[in-house]
Amino acid sequence: MKQWVDKLKKERTLNREEFRQLLTHCDTETLRYINEQARKVSLRQFGNKIYIRGLIEVSNCCRNNCYYCGIRKGNPKVERYRLSTRQILDCCRQGYATGFRTFVLQGGEDPALTDERIEKTVAAIRESYPDCAITLSLGERSREAYERFFRAGANRYLLRHETYDETHYGQLHPAEMSLARRLRCLHDLKEIGFQTGTGIMVGSPGQTTEHLLQDIGFIEKLRPEMIGIGPFLSHHDTPFAECTNGTMEQTLLLLSIFRLMHPPALIPSTTALATLAANGREQGILAGANVVMPNLSPPEERKKYELYNDKASLGAESAEGLAMLRKQLQSIGYEISTERGDFITEKQLN
Ligand code: 5AD
Repeated sequence: MKQWVDKLKKERTLNREEFRQLLTHCDTETLRYINEQARKVSLRQFGNKIYIRGLIEVSNCCRNNCYYCGIRKGNPKVERYRLSTRQILDCCRQGYATGFRTFVLQGGEDPALTDERIEKTVAAIRESYPDCAITLSLGERSREAYERFFRAGANRYLLRHETYDETHYGQLHPAEMSLARRLRCLHDLKEIGFQTGTGIMVGSPGQTTEHLLQDIGFIEKLRPEMIGIGPFLSHHDTPFAECTNGTMEQTLLLLSIFRLMHPPALIPSTTALATLAANGREQGILAGANVVMPNLSPPEERKKYELYNDKASLGAESAEGLAMLRKQLQSIGYEISTERGDFITEKQLN
């Protein structure tokens, strides 16, 4: 197996059969080896600095009914909330004082968050914080909407494709949703000039090795600036309540594969990974991640943004817990960077 890891590091890709073997025959030793190689690439690219992003969960209202997601429309048990622009600006103010220079506005596809309202919120943040990056993660919108957000001052957009396989997409989402539309959005975002992030849940119900090979191929073609990889975690009030969670091992394997394929990519050690295991965030970093996204949302709303069971939002997952996060990172030899942390191509680096 090691020879595929070395080849992947050198050539940044493998053929399908080699990738298949790596995905299906990765033993403990190989996993340790690929994590180590990915970590070295990350260290060469970013040093021992980890970028932080302040995550603001702006609304848990959603018109979609994704089978995996706790805030799906069909879950009547969720207490719904939506932050006002003033509340969002307040989160930014606190975040800025703490050292955050990227704000991520994430939310369900909430029809009350109109294009105009988002545009105004982005413009207000841009005006108050000219030195900060604004990332949006608000789902599928029209190209015109994305253009308006970009002109108002947003720089980055996160939209996971979830799976590149049409049939599998249909197993995760109701018929009203379409993979083609999701991909259209991703291409629009890239063309407009957003630093664009995509990604998948590892171990989502019905996911096969063949699907993962398709995801790898898609990400290789799209070359997103950001790649979000986390384990699928079941949520008790969804159709997937009884489904098995994704594993640490497979998530770390994919994270390392993506790091070796895309050295300059911004790859977070996700909240889902930190939820799956107590040292999940550290393990993600040691497998090649270079970003963490502590929660800046108003503490009283955090529990309501439950995408999966027991989602971590306290301690080192929170903006208040930055000192704790700093300690955790220190213990594995890393430091928090308070730079904006934009995507930089390798060429610019040299
Ligand atoms: N487990 C893990 N990740 C999830 N997401 C949504 N629901 C779950 C879940 N049950 C992820 C999706 C989405 C991102 C915001 O959160 O991949 O794109």
